[in-house]
Amino acid sequence: MVDLKSQYDKIKNTVDASIQEVLDTTTYINGPKVHEFQKNLENYLGVKHVIPCANGTDALQIAMMGLGLKPGDEVITADFTFAATVEVIALLQLTPVLVDVDMVNMNISIEAIKKAITPKTKAIVPVHLFGRAANMEAIMAIAKEHNLYVIEDNAQAIGANCKFSDGTKKKAGTIGHVASTSFFPSKNLGCYGDGGAIFTNDDDLAHKIRGIVNHGMYIRYHHDVVGVNSRLDSIQAAVLDAKLPFLDEYGKARQNAARKYSKAFENHPNIIAPTICDICDCHVFHQYTLRITNGKRDALMEHLLANQIPCAIYYPIPLHSQKAYADARYKEEDFPVTNQLVKEVISLPMHTELDDEQINYITSTVLAFFEK
Ligand SMILES: Cc1ncc(COP(=O)(O)O)c(C=O)c1O
Repeated sequence: MVDLKSQYDKIKNTVDASIQEVLDTTTYINGPKVHEFQKNLENYLGVKHVIPCANGTDALQIAMMGLGLKPGDEVITADFTFAATVEVIALLQLTPVLVDVDMVNMNISIEAIKKAITPKTKAIVPVHLFGRAANMEAIMAIAKEHNLYVIEDNAQAIGANCKFSDGTKKKAGTIGHVASTSFFPSKNLGCYGDGGAIFTNDDDLAHKIRGIVNHGMYIRYHHDVVGVNSRLDSIQAAVLDAKLPFLDEYGKARQNAARKYSKAFENHPNIIAPTICDICDCHVFHQYTLRITNGKRDALMEHLLANQIPCAIYYPIPLHSQKAYADARYKEEDFPVTNQLVKEVISLPMHTELDDEQINYITSTVLAFFEK
């Protein structure tokens, strides 16, 4: 699905030199590279605070701890996402409230959020799924009306823009009260191990979170709050700092590949391809995900794998149907879109190194399946 080796080969000198600096200074934990990367990412995103941590799941958990959410507080999130989002809600003994998504952008449905709000609701967690920014303008308006926190799960959409009706744009992950991201190797900005970060424009929350990631310490060996040990190590920060200047170029490469894929599938009666907006960069294509509408998605997958084309189903089971998160509160009829998407979606290879020959082979193999 990704080609991290070819990407590394092109930036080898930069990445190796950055890692070598860490080896030379032996500052493996909380070294200057972590601080440098943090500052560079703050500038790139236009956000006041980036707090690096160990992975994207920790980032979400720590964001919720920082907001002081308490057991029993209801947190609304999308039914169609990776499990980490709901996992941390459950882990903190908050009450997950899974809601349906939108058929076109596959992100949390605005109407479903409105219907799910109760007096116990404390937060909304939109996920910018597959690299496409959720409708943050509408989500922030609902949050303001009901006095709720918004925690953006930006694991999949770093670099994407959110567009507002007054024409302004802001980076996904800088709009809610707090946001999380993942630097898992295959992410749009990926390190060579695990990594993550929390973003916020709130000075007090940033201060609180900086303590939480470090065992609840603000002064050494003074533990003021219950914390965790969640650090981005200096070698991973060195990789990320070397890759950050390429993030926009990588986003363009993904969008170009997506444009070529979607052109090939244009007007096909059984394929719904994602649309690409040429102006706002609201989709950075962490995944390129088709909907196959003739009921033959699984057969297409077998056909692609038989032709040595990697593909994947993100995600095959709605979260409300997962054993760990099933609950009598959920009714199947509340999730018509997710229930349909899990049967229709298939993701094709998507990365920064896709060339025309690969794209042509993939698209012609997909199209040939429907001509059989
Ligand atoms: C939407 C979403 N949230 C959270 C995470 C968790 O990130 P990590 O794997 O770094 O813990 C992921 C990772 O795949 C993700 O896709």
